[in-house]
Amino acid sequence: MTILETARLRLEPCSPEHLEGLHAMNRLPEVMRYIGNGEPETLEGTQLMIERVRQRWRHFGYSWWSFIDRASGRVAGAGAVQHLRREAEPPDDLDRLRDQPLELGWRLHPDFWRQGLASEAAQRMARFAFEPLGAPRLLAVRHPDNLASGRVMDRLGMCYLGLDTWYGAPLATHGIERDAWLAR
Ligand SMILES: CC(C)(COP(=O)(O)OP(=O)(O)OC[C@H]1O[C@@H](n2cnc3c(N)ncnc32)[C@H](O)[C@@H]1OP(=O)(O)O)[C@@H](O)C(=O)NCCC(=O)NCCS
Repeated sequence: MTILETARLRLEPCSPEHLEGLHAMNRLPEVMRYIGNGEPETLEGTQLMIERVRQRWRHFGYSWWSFIDRASGRVAGAGAVQHLRREAEPPDDLDRLRDQPLELGWRLHPDFWRQGLASEAAQRMARFAFEPLGAPRLLAVRHPDNLASGRVMDRLGMCYLGLDTWYGAPLATHGIERDAWLAR
């Protein structure tokens, strides 16, 4: 499992030791407003998320990281390199995801918003996806009203590709090709 670093963050594969910090973020309505069904997550939901993510790290060699604020040691957020899917629910057979495009995802605890941290972590995750993983293209998707997330996608150099169905819902879809990334 790969640890990544940025100037202000350490990206550690999500693990049970991050449960409290991840749940302190995922239980907040303002964090979950534009994610999934928009509902805050229960402690059991965050526990299950960590188990699912551990399985994906073992299966694919990439999944969700916890973003650790290097100055304080707090969990500042989380983000992922993962396969998109069209359906709301994941398939039983994870190998069915391998043909789907890779996406980047991110979220932060509000104490860490508007400091450029999402963009900092996203740049590092994109480098991981393009360089060691060799992704031909990276996508990112958001609820159409989620302007803050759209700005992070712009800052990555992603282009808006229109509305498309992912996770069972129409989502604004942004993307960048490997060549465009390398030429930046
Ligand atoms: C989306 C999110 C991760 C952005 O994090 P952030 O660290 O504040 O973003 P950054 O500081 O890197 O800022 C990126 C840009 O978004 C802008 N921005 C931040 N919050 C904003 C808001 N509420 N509305 C509009 N723009 C906003 C910043 O000003 C910055 O703009 P710039 O590029 O012109 O300077 C954060 O708002 C969040 O965790 N939201 C809840 C979870 C979520 O929605 N995740 C994304 C799901 S697709």
